[in-house]
Amino acid sequence: MPNTKYKTHLYETKVLRALRTLKHEPFGKIVVPCVFDGLRYKLILLTAECRHRKNLMHELGRWRKENEEWFPAKFKITTLRTTKWFKEKVIGAPDRLLFLIKVRNRYIGHVGLFRFDFRQKMCQIDNILRGKPGYPGIMGNAILHMIDWGKKQLGLVAYTLRVASDNKRACRLYGRLGFVEYKRIPLIQIAGKDGLEWVDAPKGYTKKIKRYDMHMKRSSR
Ligand SMILES: CC(C)(COP(=O)(O)OP(=O)(O)OC[C@H]1O[C@@H](n2cnc3c(N)ncnc32)[C@H](O)[C@@H]1OP(=O)(O)O)[C@@H](O)C(=O)NCCC(=O)NCCS
Repeated sequence: MPNTKYKTHLYETKVLRALRTLKHEPFGKIVVPCVFDGLRYKLILLTAECRHRKNLMHELGRWRKENEEWFPAKFKITTLRTTKWFKEKVIGAPDRLLFLIKVRNRYIGHVGLFRFDFRQKMCQIDNILRGKPGYPGIMGNAILHMIDWGKKQLGLVAYTLRVASDNKRACRLYGRLGFVEYKRIPLIQIAGKDGLEWVDAPKGYTKKIKRYDMHMKRSSR
């Protein structure tokens, strides 16, 4: 195996093992201490045992429902479905982590990492969601703390993300953090099997495009 391929393979094996271990720790053990304008708060990694916390799963589902217009698909959300998603798509995904933002004993949202590109030591910022109002500026601060954690703990050097072009608040947030657009893909909304879905517009689509899937990138060096 050529040297760079071998190094990538070693890095991938090491990171995937670390992620698996982290996600099977007791809930509350993996904590990123944060400070925002003098206020101490925490990012707490959601771990496998969280699937048994019904209130937490319910809250995640409620936040998702309240913000559904910014997700690619709308469908009926239940606590059971959220629990299944959490178990299969968060804990079950080898390269995905989700942190709760805990301020003064309350969870106010979450931030995550997903889809690692091991060759480039890069991954996507994922599932950024403010569930409760307050502490303006804290979402950006939480993302920066997570970026810093990813650099120190996982050796990540760059981050990407995808955002709907009409999600002006999110676009403002990512722009403030230094993310720069490098690609945009036109989308159309269709009726999927569970509800409405945004999908790539077919080639030659001529009607007005209301939303683009914007791809942004930021180096953490
Ligand atoms: C996207 C989202 C996380 C942004 O949250 P937010 O509350 O705007 O983010 P912040 O807390 O960082 O900033 C809030 C405001 O405080 C301001 N602010 C005040 N004090 C600040 C400080 N000390 N430092 C930084 N910003 C500060 C920011 O400028 C921002 O102002 P703006 O609303 O005019 O842009 C939120 O809108 C959300 O959850 N949306 C639904 C889900 C979603 O769309 N997720 C993104 C999918 S890609």
